[in-house]
Amino acid sequence: MLEVQAVDTFYGSSQILHAATLSVREGEVVGLLGRNGMGKTTLVHTIVGLLHPRSGEITFDGKRISTLPAEKISRLGMTLVPQGHRVFPSLTVRENLRIARRRVGPGEWTMEEVLENFPALEQRWSVSAGKLSGGQQQMLAMGRALLGNGRIMLLDEPTEGLDPQTVARMGEVIDELRRRGTSAILVEQKVNFTLDRVDRAVVLSRGRIVHETDRPQELKADAAALQRLLGVSAGHGAAVHS
Ligand SMILES: Nc1ncnc2c1ncn2[C@@H]1O[C@H](COP(=O)(O)OP(=O)(O)OP(=O)(O)O)[C@@H](O)[C@H]1O
Ligand SMILES: [Mg+2]
Repeated sequence: MLEVQAVDTFYGSSQILHAATLSVREGEVVGLLGRNGMGKTTLVHTIVGLLHPRSGEITFDGKRISTLPAEKISRLGMTLVPQGHRVFPSLTVRENLRIARRRVGPGEWTMEEVLENFPALEQRWSVSAGKLSGGQQQMLAMGRALLGNGRIMLLDEPTEGLDPQTVARMGEVIDELRRRGTSAILVEQKVNFTLDRVDRAVVLSRGRIVHETDRPQELKADAAALQRLLGVSAGHGAAVHS
């Protein structure tokens, strides 16, 4: 459904992505791993139209999107959960969730389901989002994205800064997305968390895709490859920087 082909993205004169190529099939969850500063966010922003590639091609359901503005791409059913839990700080939790809701019919995420998964949000229902903790803001950002009921979700480090219990909860929500057949790109630095729940994984290094596998469990067990690609030792491979 999503094809990214040989994309080069620049900030001014500095080239960040070098012929990045990636595809996501219908219903597939793809893990995008890489150390700090390797270009993960740049790739995700290029896909959603916040940045435009200087060369290369991106298609979504066969439609060329690489020149479209972000609002148009979003309306096609692509939802970004940006890195750093961005929400509307002056609106309450309730308002943040209500404005994000988009009804699509069977299989959609309802408000009740979002609150069941993230009960902390219900407890803080009438509080301004800006007063929530970082972890709660991340849950709210994810809740907003779920209620948008898009066809593909791009999750940029959704577990960054969360306590272990909330990381586990986030994992369950991603697993549920996958069961419902929603496609996703999961950008992460938590290697085991990612490899345990994706259909396929790619590794980005200095703006290049340096590894791709449809057997994430094999990569998880391959200490030498993890060390070479991500600089992590197996066993304590919970995070790239552990
Ligand atoms: N607005 C910008 N202008 C210039 N350079 C930038 C800009 N944003 C990011 N970069 C550079 O582009 C490179 C890739 O950054 P990017 O944010 O895509 O990495 P990342 O893999 O998402 O890292 P992290 O894990 O820290 O989120 C880095 O060298 C970064 O310094
Ligand atoms: Mg990033």
